[in-house]
Amino acid sequence: MTELVWEGKYKDGKKVTPVRIALPFQTIETINESAQQRQKTLDFLIAEPDAKYGNEWRNRLIWGDKKYVLPSLLPEFAGKVNLIYIDPPFNVGSDFSFKATISDNPETEEDETTQFVKQPSIIEQKAYRDTWGKGLDSYLQWFYETVLLLKELLADDGSIYVHLDWHAGHYAKAVMDEIFGYENFRNEIVWHYRTGNLAKNQFQRKHDTIFFYSKSDKINFTPIEQKEYYADVYGPNFKPSFEGRKQGKDEKGTFRMSMVDDVWDISAVFTLSNEHLPYDTQKPEALLARIIKASSSEGDLILDCFSGSGTTAIVAEKNNRRWITCDLGRFAIHTTRKRLLGIDNLKPFIVQNLGKYERQQWMIAEFDKPETRLQQERSYKHFIIELYHAKPLDGYIWLHGAKAGRMVHVGNVEAPITVDDIKATILEFWKLTGKEKAAQVNGIDFLGWDFAFDVNETAKQFAAENKVNVSFKKIPREVLEKKAVEQGDIKFYELASLSVKTKNEKNKLTITLANFIIPPDDVPNEVQGKISHWSQWIDYWAIDWNYRDDTFHNEWQSYRTKQNPKIELTATNKYEQSGKYTVLVKVIDILGNDTTKAIQVTV
Ligand SMILES: C[S@@+](CC[C@H](N)C(=O)[O-])C[C@H]1O[C@@H](n2cnc3c(N)ncnc32)[C@H](O)[C@@H]1O
Repeated sequence: MTELVWEGKYKDGKKVTPVRIALPFQTIETINESAQQRQKTLDFLIAEPDAKYGNEWRNRLIWGDKKYVLPSLLPEFAGKVNLIYIDPPFNVGSDFSFKATISDNPETEEDETTQFVKQPSIIEQKAYRDTWGKGLDSYLQWFYETVLLLKELLADDGSIYVHLDWHAGHYAKAVMDEIFGYENFRNEIVWHYRTGNLAKNQFQRKHDTIFFYSKSDKINFTPIEQKEYYADVYGPNFKPSFEGRKQGKDEKGTFRMSMVDDVWDISAVFTLSNEHLPYDTQKPEALLARIIKASSSEGDLILDCFSGSGTTAIVAEKNNRRWITCDLGRFAIHTTRKRLLGIDNLKPFIVQNLGKYERQQWMIAEFDKPETRLQQERSYKHFIIELYHAKPLDGYIWLHGAKAGRMVHVGNVEAPITVDDIKATILEFWKLTGKEKAAQVNGIDFLGWDFAFDVNETAKQFAAENKVNVSFKKIPREVLEKKAVEQGDIKFYELASLSVKTKNEKNKLTITLANFIIPPDDVPNEVQGKISHWSQWIDYWAIDWNYRDDTFHNEWQSYRTKQNPKIELTATNKYEQSGKYTVLVKVIDILGNDTTKAIQVTV
């Protein structure tokens, strides 16, 4: 059979296949979980310490690159996914940038809502380079590797829909034929829409192409019927004379029911439509509904590894299907979560990532030369110190570098920086400065992948008592990407700080957000100029009223939507039992970054 060959497809005469490391997922949040179910899961995990999560099915929203997420799904889901829909990225501009909204200042009369375009982060640009860095050749290799893994995940009677357009669609068809078999090709669906386009040298480009394949000759497919008006088919004066087909009449005229064909006229998501989100590549729910209804049954499992604004998960949820969806972009995950929360009778779901495992993998690959783990750890810390433009410092346990009159501590790849780490670092700092008065240091910068929730208050207080100025900065995920590092584009941003007030009356606890300061990040100056009240930075916030050292259980939330752009700043909970509780407050800002704060209360 004819084969499409691109540069990079073969190495030493063999096809280059995808990375196959299966990393364990970490659950970072549960949403809509009842207190009883939470207790059941905790009991289950105590009884079965090797289990990764509870014994009940949870839909999954995964933040990560499909390169790691798909192989990590294989041990659990190979051959178990009933339907896959993918709408892979194509153009970095519209695939990765998004419009962030600055809401109105609640303390002024006028409505000053504005929007700005958030450019893609380095990590997103890197993903773009992976796909398009060497033009069509690298895109096809990237696509080929994706589809190979997807095929393994698909059930024997499963279906896959690949959404593309004129840019690469015809090449992708040849790749799909190679992987799924020409004989398993079912349809080339033409999705025809009407959006603005003013081409002068060719006809207007107004359709996308969706290739539909089955994994084998067994297939779960339910034909869909729709009304077909006689006037549309035969002209205005046609009088139906034949019988035997389902016919009817409504305000638009006489119709018969006919099977949906492979040309779909479905309107695109317009700015004024209710489902519209600030996500340029958002696909209409009606499109996904047709695919999901035709190619899956209730309870079936649906996968989309390029979630974007989350259309697949939304439609799967509304139609009682199970779903797994992933995206590399922080804002995509946030948009999907918010959109899901707007669904009535939403079933519980979890948010996951590969967090520390992805970083461990990176450390092993990057610093594998030194023989011992300790040396590996040291090379890793030197590397971060260098990226931070600090000078490495040897001979200390907790202090790893020095920069501009400050000491630097680098957190481990696998654990958050805790209050105990900070205390130990401060004690070592005092030993050093006590010994070397000439050192002239006046503070410590802590660089960490993650920080324990209570760091901002407890550790800062301890530091102040010990007369040390401390600052906490996040090691950005971009560090994992060689190209971003080579470009020297790594920035360490300070943690945002959140102030919260609590009021406690009998068993009723009231939490009020009091202030939120975010470091400038990559927000353009003119955007910062438009923010006159701290609450305008906040897009969403959620509370876990009884944090149990497991994962963040989202039990209450308030967030802005297009229909309702206002956000509550106060929340109340009534506790059934008095006692000591840890309350976790998680804020997500308008750029999709989150800040979490833990508060100890006695009610
Ligand atoms: C065309 S959009 C999908 C739009 C989606 N169908 C919707 O209705 O909103 C493609 C998405 O793929 C994501 N993406 C790109 N490369 C990725 C990768 N390697 N792994 C996971 N997601 C990726 C982008 O962040 C983007 O959100």
